[in-house]
Amino acid sequence: MSAIVVYESFWGNTTKVARAIAEGLGSDARALTTDQATDEALAEADLVVVGAPIIGFSLVQEAGRAQLARERKAPTPADLSHPSMRSWLEALPKGEGRFAVFETGLGWSPSGAHKAMTAALTGAGYTEAAPRERFLVAGRYGPLKDGEIERARQWGVTLAG
Ligand SMILES: Cc1cc2nc3c(=O)[nH]c(=O)nc-3n(C[C@H](O)[C@H](O)[C@H](O)COP(=O)(O)O)c2cc1C
Repeated sequence: MSAIVVYESFWGNTTKVARAIAEGLGSDARALTTDQATDEALAEADLVVVGAPIIGFSLVQEAGRAQLARERKAPTPADLSHPSMRSWLEALPKGEGRFAVFETGLGWSPSGAHKAMTAALTGAGYTEAAPRERFLVAGRYGPLKDGEIERARQWGVTLAG
């Protein structure tokens, strides 16, 4: 099975989860930023795993993304160097593969980023392979809670099965 994990990440938590999922999926699987996840990469994948942080109870909008640069208490500046997940989803070509979505965020937070990702992938013709998953952070900018990297790796193993 050929799989890719496409992610958006501002402070690195979702990057770490995406890489752990890819590791669990197998040696051929790759974790890709939105600019690395080209139409060609998508066309070659049987399974597309897509993930993003929850920002403001949702998948962040373009305007909200720009505001992240002004988060003064953040440990590092928000990484805004890759196209937004929203713009990547909007340009998604039609596909027939399977997909799974994940989000990173706080355990108590209602709603989430998953809805927008699931809607776009379903709308493009992909079929959901597994229920969505959330990986938990301890605070506004992370870090990931203990055990979440391993849980992400295991989720990848399960998806591969
Ligand atoms: C401006 C801002 C808004 C956030 N809103 C939410 C939220 O609504 N729900 C939630 O669970 N987490 C929220 N978080 C926490 C992030 O989802 C969490 O830190 C995430 O793991 C960041 O991922 P990243 O490091 O990959 O960018 C927010 C963080 C920031 C900075």
